[in-house]
Amino acid sequence: MRKFAVIAVIAGCLPTFAWGPEGHSLVARIADAQLTPAARARVAAILGPDTTMASISSWADEVRRSRANTAPWHYIDIPIDKPHLDMARDCPKGDCVIAKIEDFRKALNDAAIAPAERREDLMFLIHFIGDMHQPLHCSDNKDKGGNDVHVEFFGRRTNLHSVWDSGLLGRMGTEDQLFGPLSTESARRARKWSKGTVEDWAEQAHKAAQKMVYGRLPKVAAGAPVPIDAAYEKRADPLIRQQIEKAGARLAVVLNATLR
Ligand code: ADE
Ligand code: ZN
Ligand code: ZN
Repeated sequence: MRKFAVIAVIAGCLPTFAWGPEGHSLVARIADAQLTPAARARVAAILGPDTTMASISSWADEVRRSRANTAPWHYIDIPIDKPHLDMARDCPKGDCVIAKIEDFRKALNDAAIAPAERREDLMFLIHFIGDMHQPLHCSDNKDKGGNDVHVEFFGRRTNLHSVWDSGLLGRMGTEDQLFGPLSTESARRARKWSKGTVEDWAEQAHKAAQKMVYGRLPKVAAGAPVPIDAAYEKRADPLIRQQIEKAGARLAVVLNATLR
């Protein structure tokens, strides 16, 4: 019993990662349904037997601790008080999520790369296009993308980042309940959403963080936990649905264009 309590306390102090496994799996399943036959065949050949895009969509989070150099690859800290992304300012070392998406996209067609490495490159790409659609993975308020913001979320003490990774999504229904409607809506609007560059998509996520994630946050006394209530949730849920729909459509567009 004591051991569990200690583990729970340690786990509560660690920063949280990305969309939880449910969010990444939804993005991968939505994208899979929008792949061309050619892209689907190449994905299957790269990933190998008994492996789907959904089944490896959270692998990058599983290796994040053992491969410390990959930790910054999951996000880009665009300051919340700046109007635009500036790669020189926000990604000076080229190790942020936006630079890595481009690196791994190019690697998929690089004949010099060995199959095992290409498999990892595809697993990273699938995960990172999901991550960059979580608004707090494209934003920072000098709070590690909301990891340092204490909140009270329906009776539970947690942090703002975790609420946006998985807390809100977890209250929206099961993965199987969400998949049908999100996949249909994603396919319906895919053409419109696939316009623009990966940098444009990051700016959209950043704008959503400005307007909704931080913009609608109740004001509280310094140090007090911020209450995330039903009114906040009601505005947040449509944004989360749309970010997952966009991520799925855009992952498909990137793979369809790259794996011909
Ligand atoms: N660590 C620092 N900034 C972060 C962000 N925006 N998202 C996730 N982890 C972070
Ligand atoms: Zn996260
Ligand atoms: Zn991640």
